[in-house]
Amino acid sequence: MSIEFSSRMRDVAPYPQAATYAFGGDLVKLASNETPWPPHPDVLEAIKAHVGDLNRYPDPGGTALRKALAQRYDYAPERIALGNGSCDILLGVAQAMLEPGAEIVYAWPSFSMYPHLAAMTGARAVTVPLDDAGRHDLEAMLREITVATRICLICNPNNPTATALPLDQIADFVDQVPRHVLVVIDEAYVEFNLLQDPDDSLELLKKNTNVVLLRTFSKVYGLCGLRVGYALASDTFRDAVDRIRQPFSVNALALAAATEALRHQDEVARRVERIAIERVHVESELAERGLATTEGQANFSWVAVEDEAAVLAGLEERGVIVRGGAALGDPGHIRVTYGTRPENDAFLAAIDAVIQRA
Ligand SMILES: Cc1ncc(COP(=O)(O)O)c(C=O)c1O
Repeated sequence: MSIEFSSRMRDVAPYPQAATYAFGGDLVKLASNETPWPPHPDVLEAIKAHVGDLNRYPDPGGTALRKALAQRYDYAPERIALGNGSCDILLGVAQAMLEPGAEIVYAWPSFSMYPHLAAMTGARAVTVPLDDAGRHDLEAMLREITVATRICLICNPNNPTATALPLDQIADFVDQVPRHVLVVIDEAYVEFNLLQDPDDSLELLKKNTNVVLLRTFSKVYGLCGLRVGYALASDTFRDAVDRIRQPFSVNALALAAATEALRHQDEVARRVERIAIERVHVESELAERGLATTEGQANFSWVAVEDEAAVLAGLEERGVIVRGGAALGDPGHIRVTYGTRPENDAFLAAIDAVIQRA
């Protein structure tokens, strides 16, 4: 006799892990859409200041962080949900809204967590292919929305293709979505998107109570090791997500770090500028080598390659770890996160060696 898991577990695939963790030694880590810089020194101080209190549970309401976010966005703190990474909020909203018979609509390929939401709740996943340029096809997505749809996810910029849609197209889409559907706009990379200012999306919240903006401290703020994300939403959304999850889901160090990180918007601007410079550098160098990328607005490039497995192996041999498209829903690609200039140049040199060998 062996223990028996629920029948839903058959559909829950393991999260596709980057190869980074399997290797020792010095690596160029360009696989997980992280930023290459450590947290701001004041953020490190804020973390240290809380280490001595770790015998206490954290504030379950994350009051100070929600207040800081409310000030940053001029938004009501009761309408801000916090999570142990924005993934935690995605999983929470799925548990709160999905069940057998319900549907969730999203583009594909997109963020690899999305298939989990239907799989773990027994809902039906309705996936809509990206267009030829790797962008969401909003008209096709609209056609898939039915009375059974509970959630529609828009990933903007999209992971893994890095493409972004102009906000006015998303606003038109939201106008046409029936009000019984929650539109979650996953903006994990919004700060890097030069098509809009991150604050512009808040207009959507003013007009539509069924919209959620999902954001994270994992990317531009460089705090993915602590896991903290947030949603700008409605008070009913926050209440549902808070009720369904374990209490104290955001740890004390993460709360302290994120609250301090928000105070350093000048650092955010500096990082965005550096990423934009690296984007131009990497994309133009790849173009010179005849390698096509999508029109990216994130901190990574989506690169078409002839032999994905050979490119991945060749890069790995040289200590450069990127993600293969096969694991992310579209074989024949690699996704490369921008690192520091020396890291990006190490990637380009490794690509040259792989091309020469072929
Ligand atoms: C589109 C997208 N959304 C959400 C996340 C999750 O971020 P976290 O849970 O670290 O906040 C990621 C992480 O890579 C992502 O790419």
